[in-house]
Amino acid sequence: MHKLLILYATQTGNALDAAERLSRLAERRGCLVFLLSLDQYDPSLLPQEEAVIFVVSTTGQGDTPDSMKVFWRYLLQRNLGQHWLKGVHYAVFGLGDSSYQKYNFVAKKLEKRLLDLGGTAIVERGLGDDQHPSGYEASLDPWMSSLWRMLNMIKPEFLSNGPDVVIEDTVLIDQPKVRITYHSIENVESHFSSASDLTSLNIQIGSARSMHPGKSSSDRSRPDSFLKTVKNLPLTRLNSGKDVRHFEFEFVSNALEYETGDVLEILPGQDSAAVDAFIQRCNLDPDSFITVSPREMDDQNAHHSSIPVKLKTFVQFSMDVDSASPRRYFFEVMRFFATAEHERERLQYFGSPEGRDDLYQYNQRERRTVLEVLDDFPAVQMPFEWLVQLVPPLKTRAFSISSAQSVHPNQVHLTVNVVSWTTPYKRKKKGLCSSWLAALDPRDGIYVPAWFHKGSLPTPSPSLPLILVGPGTGCAPFRGFIEERALQSRTNSTAPVIFFFGCRNEDGDFLYRDFWLSHSQNKGVLSEAKGGGFYVAFSRDQPQKVYVQHKMREHRQRIWNLLAEGAAVYVAGSSTKMPADVTSTFEEIVSKENDVSREDAARWIRALEKCGKYHVEAWS
Ligand code: 2AM
Repeated sequence: MHKLLILYATQTGNALDAAERLSRLAERRGCLVFLLSLDQYDPSLLPQEEAVIFVVSTTGQGDTPDSMKVFWRYLLQRNLGQHWLKGVHYAVFGLGDSSYQKYNFVAKKLEKRLLDLGGTAIVERGLGDDQHPSGYEASLDPWMSSLWRMLNMIKPEFLSNGPDVVIEDTVLIDQPKVRITYHSIENVESHFSSASDLTSLNIQIGSARSMHPGKSSSDRSRPDSFLKTVKNLPLTRLNSGKDVRHFEFEFVSNALEYETGDVLEILPGQDSAAVDAFIQRCNLDPDSFITVSPREMDDQNAHHSSIPVKLKTFVQFSMDVDSASPRRYFFEVMRFFATAEHERERLQYFGSPEGRDDLYQYNQRERRTVLEVLDDFPAVQMPFEWLVQLVPPLKTRAFSISSAQSVHPNQVHLTVNVVSWTTPYKRKKKGLCSSWLAALDPRDGIYVPAWFHKGSLPTPSPSLPLILVGPGTGCAPFRGFIEERALQSRTNSTAPVIFFFGCRNEDGDFLYRDFWLSHSQNKGVLSEAKGGGFYVAFSRDQPQKVYVQHKMREHRQRIWNLLAEGAAVYVAGSSTKMPADVTSTFEEIVSKENDVSREDAARWIRALEKCGKYHVEAWS
């Protein structure tokens, strides 16, 4: 039988969702499918494949997902040659967001490379857009129809049931991919008997997260450290329309080393009442001890590979029951387990092509949570295996660290925007992690599970001149930079730093106002006396908007002089458009000050990027 290989690279889980849908529909057409994440696949085997479908997402600034990095490096090797993929048929579906400059960049460059290496396209690439009112699915379904048609023409032996199987009328679900094993208490206690509370918590979180089928292969399941909140302070005025907090955490377990520019990931706590409600709604026993293993793993291995945890612990640390929206397949499986006719009909409609947009409006747009969906369909009773597989995994959230460890040896600081919004149907929603953090009180003694890793901002050496651009919470990493440079400048000479900050109002959301102002006076590292500068754009204090770009233009000569001295540029922030607008302003400045064309200026900035002197860290 001919094998269709589906390879995906996902960052948030959407590409996996799309790849799984593709795989299910291919199987129903009689195809033998292999579905793998790109980091589970050996790229040297690619020339031996007959047909490969790639489903790849593009992250914010046009980067490949982490799980694709090794594969992509392999594919870029010069010696592969233009016949390397001769005879290999491929198709590419990309997931991206057209509000970003490099829309679906990864899918586009992958497709070009596959073609250059001699592969043959089955269909033109498909591009899914997050900005579309129905999300990426709006283009996935029509793209799949052409894929089946073309595949059937080129290689009819692949689809033994033909390209046009109508699946919407029949409920077909597969076996769940995981198996739950229940354990007696005696089996479990030996794992924890001698462990301290924190070690035990660390083991339980690690075990719950490593057993979850949706974990990404690069995850370290056990937290690197636990943090204790020592300060939780508002940085914005009440009624300013923003709620940004400054957090100071102390290490309670291992004091880990981090550098300025690094990123801290936090596992948010879920509301215990929501976890209880979910467990009750699904008729589960919160106190039973379980392990979760892939169904294909044999009994022996399944039994030994994981440490059992309480079902409630598993849900608490690995299943997002009250924040993320379930995927489309969740609704298909719900339909299978619906016992009331009217619920089944509604779920059937959601699964049909006509109901797709309504499902998107009901579910993703409204950010309906698993708990809310289950409440709307009270006659659905899904087995726990299916819930474990389909409830979205509880994700960690990443924040740029805003302190320097040289200044605060046992601490790490964060600057967090507390997110809330109203859905199209006027339902109030809060960001899970930021609102959980905002509610932390130093007196509660709650442990915050945390992981440290490198972000895209390397720690600058003291002799490197810096141009920093960070509106809003984009200032976070630069607070760490300035703390560190101020310390260094006490004993050594340091290179100049200029910082462009932006916020809405001078008296509303001017984050760390006193900190910046104090460093821009009296020979501080941002002071003119030290060759530095601190420039603020208040976007809403006058009728017309003033952004960091305007301030950059005002000080373009300073910028150019510093660039000519070898300065590095760091841009950080949360706006989707800001990084691109700032890059374009740098190009404009280089073009004017260096008296070169705009194209040459753009090349100049690209060269800066290539030699590791133009860095962007952006988040939405
Ligand atoms: P606004 O909300 O008034 O439009 C931090 O969020 C600051 O960044 C705010 O003052 C915000 O202004 C501003 N901002 C929004 N979009 C921007 C962009 N494209 N470039 C620069 N700053 C931007």
